[in-house]
Formats: sequence, C-alpha cells, structure tokens
Amino acid sequence: MSRHFKAKIINNLSLNGKNGLLSMEPLEPVINPEPGQFYMIGVSNSHDPFLKRPFSFFRKTSEGIQFLYEVRGRGTMMMKGFRGGEVINILGPLGKGYPEPGGDKTPLLIAGGIGIASVFSLVEAFAKRAYVFYGARDKEGLLMLDELEGLAGELIISTDDGSMGEKGTVVDVLNDFLTSDGSTELAEVFSLLTSYLIYACGPKPMLEAVSRIALGRGIKGYISAEENMACGVGACLGCAIKVKSQTLALCYKMVCKDGPVFPIEEILW
Ligand SMILES: Cc1cc2nc3c(=O)[nH]c(=O)nc-3n(C[C@H](O)[C@H](O)[C@H](O)COP(=O)(O)OP(=O)(O)OC[C@H]3O[C@@H](n4cnc5c(N)ncnc54)[C@H](O)[C@@H]3O)c2cc1C
Ligand code: FES
Repeated sequence: MSRHFKAKIINNLSLNGKNGLLSMEPLEPVINPEPGQFYMIGVSNSHDPFLKRPFSFFRKTSEGIQFLYEVRGRGTMMMKGFRGGEVINILGPLGKGYPEPGGDKTPLLIAGGIGIASVFSLVEAFAKRAYVFYGARDKEGLLMLDELEGLAGELIISTDDGSMGEKGTVVDVLNDFLTSDGSTELAEVFSLLTSYLIYACGPKPMLEAVSRIALGRGIKGYISAEENMACGVGACLGCAIKVKSQTLALCYKMVCKDGPVFPIEEILW
C-alpha cells in the first residue's frame, strides 16, 4: 500500500480564531496510523507552496482521519480555507510513534498548546488509564475539552493566565504533582516516581523542561519533537536534531524518520 494518497475533505471546522479540526476521507486504501505518527499534507494543489506541511495523526473516525491544527503561517492559513469536497494530496503515516508502556506503568501524558494534537490519540488508546496534563496560554487555547474529559483517567488543566484550571504552565503543574509533601518515605517516593512513564508533546522549551524534570527524578518517557520539514521521509536532512552519543562527536537524528518520538534521555538540548 502506498503512503501517497488523495483524500476528500469532509469538513473543516473552525474551533476559534486560529485552530481548526480537519476531517478527511482517504479515496484509496491507506495504512493504519499509530499514535504519535504524522502525515505530510499538501496545502495546495498547485506547486505554490511546493512543500507539504507535517501534522500529527489526531483521531480516526468512521469516515476517515482527523487533524487538529493551529494557523501559524502561509501554509496553515491556506489549510484554514479548505472546503468540504476538495481533494488534497497526503503522504503518511510517517515516522515512529509512541511506544506502548509496560502493563505496570502509569502513563503521564503532557500536552502544551497544539501538542494535544499528537497526544490525543494516546489518551484514547490508554482508555482512562492515564493522567493527562494539558496546558495552554489561556482558556481559548484549550481544545477538545469535552472529549478529553470522557477519555482521560484524570485530566489536569492549566492556563498561563489562570483563565481556566490551575494557574501556571503545564510544567509547573507537573512539578507540583511529582513533588512529595515530605511525609512519604524516600523508598516509597522513588517507587512511585519510577512507576510513571511520561509522554509529552508541545513547544520546545516545555519539552526541555519536562525532560529535565524526568531525568532529575528517574522517570522514563518519550517526547515528540518538532522541526521544520521539507520531505518528511529522511531524504533532505532538513529536520536534524542533536542526540547524545557515546563519543565526543556530534550526533544527529532525523525527526521525520528516526522520530518524531524519541526517548527523553536521547535528546541533547
Ligand atoms: C511531526 C510534526 C507534527 C506536527 N503536528 C502538528 C499538528 O498536529 N497540528 C499543528 O497545528 N501543527 C503541527 N505541526 C506544526 C506544523 O507542521 C507547522 O505549524 C506548519 O508546518 C506551519 O506551516 P505554515 O506554512 O503555516 O508556516 P510557515 O512558517 O510559513 O512554514 C513552516 C515551515 O515550512 C517550511 N517552509 C515553508 N516555506 C518554505 C520554503 N520556501 N523553503 C523551505 N521550507 C519552507 C519550513 O520548514 C517552514 O519553517 C507539526 C510539526 C511536526 C514536525
Ligand atoms: S524532513 Fe527531510 S529529512 Fe526530515
């Protein structure tokens, strides 16, 4: 089965001024996506812009696939203009998604802003087993809350300006959650922390902070990285990120092909 396919737009729902939910129906047989994988979406049927844009697999529906997006620049502005019935070109699913946790681990899913687009399918997959930490700048930035309420084991909402949920960043809230009140035995704290497995997607500073917290407390986990992409398949070397290596030499991996999901301990910030 080819990863190149055409899809018909079913609808393109505006959620607020800058976010939309795009539903599409593939017009040919397609490969099943896994949580954390992504697609390169052609935002125009002409050659302008030439490059497709990467978007996380958000959710499967009875009719097809959905993507949750934020308007950032020219390509996503064109995406906002997609109308029902239009046919677009897509490549995917691509990359390596989130690995499954062992049966004894408690997943902590952490999403900052539009990072919820990548994390949402994991919330669905964990079916009430996960703690979900979801933060945005303000309440308008919090998307799909009703759906998340029904899916998460526990949903902990935060906004930077305090307009909904806890006031502060999602990293502040995670830190509080993981901080012992001092009354628990050290061994017990350690065993609790190591029973967690983190999955995070969001802006780079958030991912870096989450990684530092996880490494500092001995918690394993994964982050989904974001880099500008041109090809999406490891050919242009445009999405390289630095990773740790055994030698002193700098080592790079491609976000599109080796990721976008990487073990927390692998990334060099
Ligand atoms: C794996 C992954 C998953 C993502 N998932 C989502 C998601 O689910 N939802 C979401 O909203 N966002 C997601 N993003 C971010 C999204 O891809 C960007 O917001 C989007 O590409 C912005 O496109 P734009 O044209 O609007 O912005 P622009 O800033 O105009 O372009 C963005 C990038 O496109 C490339 N580009 C544009 N023009 C050129 C050019 N002339 N030459 C070379 N490169 C060019 C560059 O890499 C540029 O930085 C994801 C990103 C990655 C890497
Ligand atoms: S986008 Fe071309 S190598 Fe990753």
